Order: sequence, then C-alpha cells, then structure tokens
Amino acid sequence: MLDITIPENIIKAIISGKKNKNQDLEKVKIDRILIKDEEVLQVSSYKGKQVFHKNLNDQEINQEIINLLENDFNNASIYTKEFQYNYRITAKGKLLTNRQKNDDDSFVVLAHNKQKKYLIEEGMVVPALVDLGIMAKDGKVLKHGYDKFKQINRFLEIVDDAIKDEKELNIVDFGCGKSYLTFILYYYFVEIKKMNVNITGLDLKEDVIDNCNLIAKKYNYTNLKFYKGDIAKYSEENKVDMIVTLHACDTATDYALYHAINMDVKYIFSVPCCQHEINLQLDSSKFHLMNKYGIIKERFSALLTDSIRANILQYFGYKTQILEFVDFDASPKNLLIRATKVNKGGNLKVKEEVDNLIKEYQIHQTLYSLMFEEK
Ligand SMILES: C[S@@+](CC[C@H](N)C(=O)[O-])C[C@H]1O[C@@H](n2cnc3c(N)ncnc32)[C@H](O)[C@@H]1O
Repeated sequence: MLDITIPENIIKAIISGKKNKNQDLEKVKIDRILIKDEEVLQVSSYKGKQVFHKNLNDQEINQEIINLLENDFNNASIYTKEFQYNYRITAKGKLLTNRQKNDDDSFVVLAHNKQKKYLIEEGMVVPALVDLGIMAKDGKVLKHGYDKFKQINRFLEIVDDAIKDEKELNIVDFGCGKSYLTFILYYYFVEIKKMNVNITGLDLKEDVIDNCNLIAKKYNYTNLKFYKGDIAKYSEENKVDMIVTLHACDTATDYALYHAINMDVKYIFSVPCCQHEINLQLDSSKFHLMNKYGIIKERFSALLTDSIRANILQYFGYKTQILEFVDFDASPKNLLIRATKVNKGGNLKVKEEVDNLIKEYQIHQTLYSLMFEEK
C-alpha cells in the first residue's frame, strides 16, 4: 500500500510511466469539466488507439489515482489551481514527491468561467471571435482575450434582457474598433436567435473596418456592415432602434448619444471611457480638494461627465440607469449607461439640475452643448 495523500480540488492530472511494458493501458488523463452545470472529473484511459472515458466525483478520484499508482503507473502530475504535485515511484518502490507553483494560467480561465454562466459559454465557437484572436478554434477563450470575452458577454446579456419582446432591430455600434462586441451581438441575435437584426459598425480606423468587413463577408453575415467615419459626422436615413458603444473614447460617446437622442432610438447601451473633457477644465483654485490628487480628479470628472449624460438622456424621455456591467478587475471602465425611451421627456427639474452642475463647475460638456447650446 502506498502512503500517499492526493490534493483536493484537482483540476487536471496526468498519470503515466507504465509499470509493465506489455500492459494495454498507456496513460490516464483526468480533467475537471462541466456537464449540465455539474462539475465532474473526467477520466480518460488511453489503450492503444482507443480512449475510454468515465466521470467520477471528488471523493472517488482520490482512490482512482491511488489504484493507478499502485497497479499500473509510476508517475503522476496532479494540478490544482495553485500547485503542480509530482509523484514518482522508484524501481525500489519508494515514493518521491514534490510540489511547485502552477504557472499555467489556462487553469484560471476554467476556474473563472465555471462560476459564471454566459449566453455564449466558453467552448461555443463564435467563428468571428476566432478570426479576431480571442478564441481558439475549439472555442477555448485565450488568456489575453478573457477580459474582453467577459465584457462582451455581459454586454450581450444586458441587451438581451432589455429586448425580449423585439423581433426586428437596426443597431449601430459607434466606435466599434475591432468589433468583438459587434460580432457577438450579431452572432447571438442573428445566428442563434434567428432574429431579423441589422448591425452597422462605425469607426475612424480604415484598417479595422476593412478587416471587419472581410470577416463579415467570410461568414456571409449579410446584415452586418462596417463603415469608416467620424461619429460626429454620422447621419442615417433609415430608422435606428438601438445604439451601443463600448469604450468609445472621450467625447465620441457624446456624439453617439447625441445621434441616439436625435434619431429617437428606443435603446441605448453605452460604456464610456477616457472622460478627459471635464478633467482638463476643472478649476484648481475653486475645487482644490478635488484637484489635489490626480486619480480623484480623474474619477470625479468621469462620474460628473456620466451623470450629466445620464440626466440629459432622462430629460429627453429616457428611463436611464447606470450600472457596473463587469467588475473592476475585468475593466476599470466598467459603468454602463442603459437608457430606454419611455416618453417625450421635458422634465424641467432634471434640466435645471444639469444646468446647475454646468454652471457650478464652469465647464463645457459636449453632449450638453450639442443638445442645448448649438441649436
Ligand atoms: C477603445 S476602442 C473600443 C473599440 C471597441 N468598441 C471595443 O470595445 O473593443 C475605441 C474606438 O473608438 C474609435 N473612435 C474614437 N473616436 C471616434 C470617432 N469620433 N468616430 C469614430 N470612431 C471613433 C477608435 O478608433 C477606437 O477604435
């Protein structure tokens, strides 16, 4: 009997080094996987060219590994999220063990993902996301793409939740960039839900727009079009039902909201970023405490900007909320303005509050100017 302690919370294990050269069993792999929301440890036994699978729970797996080391194999590498444990049985039957830090980040992805269910789960292949380099061909999210994958999935979930009763939608993604969000929206609503959805992506950068159009063409996404252009100069003849922005820089968000209000779109989902405009204007002598620390000034300016934007939307008849759409770790730019057109607006008290903020801080704010000063 081997005196061996198997670690808890195994994510993966490889058992190898045949005791008997003639035995059929070549090696055994163990992987923690999700089956119908249940975590199991899948044991894959390699015999010649065949692989046999069985699923065990956390208690059963310990005895399984011990049996394999006693009867069939001399080596085992067992991985938990934190450590890799190595076991070797010498020719004299002595058990040698060591432990090292597990630096393989792909395990973190698995552990993370199993805590949260997304509309597009890891493992579901979204072809365009493979082309865009955040997903492998088998649907595994690559480490560098995980934060973006989380952001676009949460964004998708929030949109999906709001449009449950819609069958047809024209959507514009302002500042679409590489268009991870645009493609996941299209894939989910058109390819999976079979909705009649048209999406237009707009961005300043010619190379990213060309690439996005190539990908859309490759997958025959006929209702998805990308255009190069400045949001400020955007105009559209056709009806637009929804606009989305994800990290459209600084005042680009204001122009997007301006068009949304003017086009009377029903839904707005906007995650602003780089709110420099007010940051550069705050009067240091008047608001010394706010300006004393750069990070406070930056965050305060961003919050001031977004509260002005949200109130302007409310004034124009939108029911408006600001929510944290992902946690701060996934992106510090994590506030989403969600607005749905509910009435004609015109609440003077709301406008007065915005006027007061603008006067108090003596600032120019692009959306405010576009809506109230440049008419
Ligand atoms: C930080 S990226 C975000 C891209 C994408 N939405 C995402 O989340 O991956 C911001 C994008 O906005 C685009 N952008 C900024 N100002 C713009 C403007 N005035 N008109 C069009 N696109 C603009 C930039 O070219 C850039 O691709």
